[in-house]
Amino acid sequence: VHEFLEKTVGKPMVDDVLDDGRKFYKWRNQPFIPVEFSVAAYRFGHSQVRPSYRSNFGPTPADVNSQVFKLIFKDSLPDGPDPNDLRGGKRAPTRFIDWQTFFDFGDGNVRPNKKIDTKLSTVLFDLPGFAPGDVQSLAQRNLLRHLTFGLPSGQSAAKAMKLPILDAVHLNDLKPLNLHDRTPLWFYILREAGVEEDGKQLGPVGGRIVAEVFIGLLQGDALSYLKQDPGWTPTLPSAAANTFEMTDLLRFAGVVAPL
Ligand code: HEM
Repeated sequence: VHEFLEKTVGKPMVDDVLDDGRKFYKWRNQPFIPVEFSVAAYRFGHSQVRPSYRSNFGPTPADVNSQVFKLIFKDSLPDGPDPNDLRGGKRAPTRFIDWQTFFDFGDGNVRPNKKIDTKLSTVLFDLPGFAPGDVQSLAQRNLLRHLTFGLPSGQSAAKAMKLPILDAVHLNDLKPLNLHDRTPLWFYILREAGVEEDGKQLGPVGGRIVAEVFIGLLQGDALSYLKQDPGWTPTLPSAAANTFEMTDLLRFAGVVAPL
């Protein structure tokens, strides 16, 4: 709530939903995952994926040649105990993650995600694990789900939520497809993040859907901290007083090998 969600939707949005309550995500009996979240808004993460990552610094971290950079996946690469991509399910030593690339330990090694915008890394257009003839492109799969689930356009969602609608000039590239004024929600949310927030976080429509569902699910869960003890703060040791971050959790878990 106070790290990942704030980074994803912005602190003002998190504060607003916590302090002033949810406006749109409601349930009668049990909380549920709305399709606007699962089929569109929360698939924003597809745009953050980089084609390759430095997963491990190797035996001599200062030497860039010992660092392990690999594509996230490439179906055509041979399988085996240590394939030349980052597919999971293998235990070779170089496949253990050095977290310093992914979280900021203050050592200058952290690398940012790709921005949230309407560009996707090429590897995601050739997904592994799907039978030949099946749709291999993640973008195409997301957009087909938009149709099969009958999702509202981004413009309809913004209107229903009484939020500013993205100016048509920002969707000019969709004119030839006639989707510039009824844009698939997933694409709209990515464009909104790119235009309104320079791709660093979600914009007003995407951010509100993600924030309300994340916080709503916690509020609807009788065992969550928000229900049991909303003022609770983590009690484990942390590097800085009164804050507790993923880096603290990883250190506490003993999984951060010194470089
Ligand atoms: C390498 C990284 C990733 C790959 C290869 C991947 C791939 C996929 C695939 C193949 C689907 C099913 C598509 C369909 O047929 O509808 C999917 C669904 C989904 N993905 Fe990803 N994804 C990745 C990362 C992420 C990230 C980072 C997020 C969010 C932060 C995310 C959120 C979702 C959501 C919410 C769904 C829908 C789940 C559901 O409806 O049950 N994905 N992803």
